[in-house]
Amino acid sequence: MSGILVASNRGPVSFTMSEGGALSMRRGGGGLVSGLSEVSKELDVLWVCAALSDGDRGAVRLAPGGRLDQAGYETGALRMLDIPPATFQRAYNAVANSTLWFVHHLLYDTPNRPHFDARFGREWESYQAYNEAFAMALAEEASHGAKVMVQDYHLALVPAMLRSERPDLRVSHFSHTPWAPPEYFGLLPDEVAAELLEGILGADQAGFLTDRWAGAFMDCCESVLDARVERAGRTVTHAGRTTRIGVHGLGVDGRALWERAREPDVESHMAALRELVGDRRLIVRIDRTELSKNIVRGLIAYREFLAAHPEWHGRVVHLAFAYPSRHDLPEYREYTAAVQRCASEIEDEYATEDWDPLILNVQDDYPRSLAAYRLADVMLVNPIRDGMNLVAKEGPVLSPNSALVLSREAGAAAELGADALLVNPYDVSATARAIHEGLVMPEHERAVRGDRLARLATALPPQRWFADQLAALG
Ligand code: G6P
Repeated sequence: MSGILVASNRGPVSFTMSEGGALSMRRGGGGLVSGLSEVSKELDVLWVCAALSDGDRGAVRLAPGGRLDQAGYETGALRMLDIPPATFQRAYNAVANSTLWFVHHLLYDTPNRPHFDARFGREWESYQAYNEAFAMALAEEASHGAKVMVQDYHLALVPAMLRSERPDLRVSHFSHTPWAPPEYFGLLPDEVAAELLEGILGADQAGFLTDRWAGAFMDCCESVLDARVERAGRTVTHAGRTTRIGVHGLGVDGRALWERAREPDVESHMAALRELVGDRRLIVRIDRTELSKNIVRGLIAYREFLAAHPEWHGRVVHLAFAYPSRHDLPEYREYTAAVQRCASEIEDEYATEDWDPLILNVQDDYPRSLAAYRLADVMLVNPIRDGMNLVAKEGPVLSPNSALVLSREAGAAAELGADALLVNPYDVSATARAIHEGLVMPEHERAVRGDRLARLATALPPQRWFADQLAALG
C-alpha cells in the first residue's frame, strides 16, 4: 500500500525482448520522466503505468502482481498494467493520440476529419476500459487517504472513476498539453466532451501548465457542462463538487542537465559535429517528428531565409533533429515523409560541393541532441501549439549565448516571451526573418537575453513542480 501514487501512460522504464527471449531494461526518455524518476524514488512514490510493448508485457508477466520492483528490477516502486493489446491500441492510438491530442493541438483538417462514427464508439469504449484498469489498480494500491497524481489526456476519466471507488483519496489530474478552446473542444460528440470534463472534475485539483490552458478548460466546463466557474478564485463547481484549478509551470533541472551534457559521449558528439560543420553558424531544432511541432513550416522558413540572404550561403548550417514518434498512426508516417521531402528539396536547391546547408537527423540520440544544444547559435522552436515545450528551456540552459526563435503558441512563450524572438508559427516569412534576426543579433544582446532565458528556464525544475502538486493536495 502506498501513500503517494503517480499514474501515467508512459512509465519511467521500458523493456525490449531479444529474439532469444532475454529482457533488457531502458530508462524512459523525456524531461518529466527523468525529473520524476529521481523525486519518486526519494519520496517512495508508487508509479502506475501501462505496458507499451511486447517487451514490457514480457516483463510484467514475470512480475508478481505487475510490481516490477518486486521482480528484481531497479525501477523504484512501479506497477505496469498489462492491458489487452487491442484495448490498449484503441485507447492510446485511436482516442488519446488521434482524437484528444488532435483536439488540444488544433490539428484537424476539418473537411475530412474528424468523423465520429460507430467505430469511434467502440474505440471510446476501449478508452473507458483502459481508464478503468488504471482506476482499479490505483484503488487497489493506495493506502487510506493517499495522494494520487494522474497525468495527461490518456487518463482523463480516472479521477472520477477513482473517486467513486475510493472517496477517501486525494486526487489530482495534470494536463501536459494545451487545452482546446470551447469551439474546438465542441467538435467532440457531446457525451464524450462531457465525460472527459466530468472525469477530470472528479479530481480535487486539475492542473495545467499555463493560465491560458487553465482558462480554456474553465471555458469548456462552462459551455459544455454549464458548470459554475470562479475565474479569479480558480474553481469549477459541478454536480455538487468543487474542483480547484491549478497552474504549475514546468522547467528544467539546470544542474542535472549540465552534468549530463558534460559527459564524454556528449563531448565526442560535439567534436564530430564541429568536424562536420566547421566554424559555420548553427541553427538547431530538436523535436519528435510530431505534427504539432511544425517542422515542415520551419524548414520552409529556413529555405526562405536562404533565398533572402545569399550572404549567408556557405556560412550557416541548419541541424534539424526530428526523432521518430507514434509511427502506428498514418498521419505521423506521412508527416515524416513530408519532412524528408522538404529537406531534400532544400539540399537539391542549395547544397554545393563543400557546403551542406541542412543536416536532418531522424535517429533518436540523446547525447547528440545535447551536443547540438551546446553548439547552437539560434534555436528554432516553432510549434503550432504546445503545452510548454522543454526544448525552448533546455536550449538556453546549455547554450546561453544562443538566440531563441519561439512560437507564441507554445506554453513556454508565456514565461520566455520577453527575451525570445516570438513568431506566429503559421507565418513562415516572419519565422525566416526571426532566424535572420537571431543570427545578426549583437553578441552582447544575445548573452544578456540568453542569461535571463536560462534563469527563467530553471526556475521551475520538475522537483518543484512535483512538490507543488503534492502541496496542492493538502
Ligand atoms: C507529450 C505528452 C506525454 C507523452 C509524450 C510522448 O509530451 O504530454 O504524455 O508521453 O508527448 O508521446 P508518446 O505518445 O510517445 O508517449
